Amino acid sequence: MSFKITDTVSWVGKIDWELNKFHGDEYSTHKGSSYNSYLIKDEKTVLIDTVWQPFSKEFVSKLKQEIDLDKIDYIIMNHSEVDHSGALLDLMNEIPNTPIYCTKNGVKIIKGHYHKDWNFVEVKTGDTLDIGKHTLTFIEARMLHWPDTMFTYMSGENILFSNDAFGQHFASEHMYNDKVDSSELYLEAIKYYANILTPFSKFVTKKIEEVLSFNLPVDMICPSHGIIWRDNPLQIVNKYMEWANSYKENQITIIYDTMWNATRKMAEEIAKGIAAIDKDVTVKVYNSAKRDKNDIITEVFKSKMIIVGSSTINNGILSSTAALLEMIKGLKFTDKKAFGFGSYGWSGESVKLITEELKEAGFEIVSDGIKELWNPDEDGLNRCRKLGESVVKM
Ligand code: FEO
Repeated sequence: MSFKITDTVSWVGKIDWELNKFHGDEYSTHKGSSYNSYLIKDEKTVLIDTVWQPFSKEFVSKLKQEIDLDKIDYIIMNHSEVDHSGALLDLMNEIPNTPIYCTKNGVKIIKGHYHKDWNFVEVKTGDTLDIGKHTLTFIEARMLHWPDTMFTYMSGENILFSNDAFGQHFASEHMYNDKVDSSELYLEAIKYYANILTPFSKFVTKKIEEVLSFNLPVDMICPSHGIIWRDNPLQIVNKYMEWANSYKENQITIIYDTMWNATRKMAEEIAKGIAAIDKDVTVKVYNSAKRDKNDIITEVFKSKMIIVGSSTINNGILSSTAALLEMIKGLKFTDKKAFGFGSYGWSGESVKLITEELKEAGFEIVSDGIKELWNPDEDGLNRCRKLGESVVKM
């Protein structure tokens, strides 16, 4: 499959309907994904990005149906992660001398992955490539989300090829934002931001301000995953500005794991307490061992406060809680509140350990939390409910 985006630009990527995990096992892709590669036919012919390695041969073979590969004048690698550079080996076997335009870090990363001394051309912000009627301008976008990342802007067509930024893991037979269900699209876009871009929010804000300061007309944003933004493309840019600014909604998320349901009961009572006092706040409750970790992270991203619970086991905390806290720590959320809770039998370290982890993750700890011995009785459940009630004022 390929399709024309404009008279000069075609999509020549791969829709991956089957993908259910990305970045190894780190990111769930409930709706599959796509690896978007773009072919520009001007006086010069340009290929922007490729696809993930398992689709490499299919990509090269389909590209041959679009164009004689020898006619490709330039390859642009906006980002070297293997989901975009994975077809380079097969492609470069066919056209070994074609120049590859990328950032200095891009050269290092591509060499690190493929150990080939291809014809690299290093570019930096403001460098341009005249391709005939149109000009391509490169804009480094370091740490969005790798050190090598860059955008390519095509004047005349006014297209921003943004690579991962503004993308979503969303396989669809419709490739434009005005053709897909907007709520589905935004669900995937916010999940992508929450799970991948959150730690780089400061870079996101700076980069967007820089790009906007160029006053370039943008008719389309073509990311490297998912849907192309052509209807009011700046809507996703404005969303990114919101998301990058310590984003939160009026939401409190309770996340727990439990062995014999005592910590679950505590979670539910805390939720009841919050809901009894504040009729407007959204309270969501997730068992971290049973729900998708990336969906939970998206809810953490949307929350003003998270409350994390675990039973004590072997002087520690349950493995799903520990894993989620590790993810939360890495994502460097800002301006969010938190505290811990959990049941115990004898040693009872879980709440202290959760609190330490949350503090280290940058959360404002608003309570010492609560721990209950064995299975909480009515008094214990009351204590949890009261704590929930008091949370509203924190
Ligand atoms: Fe889609 Fe960072 O690769």
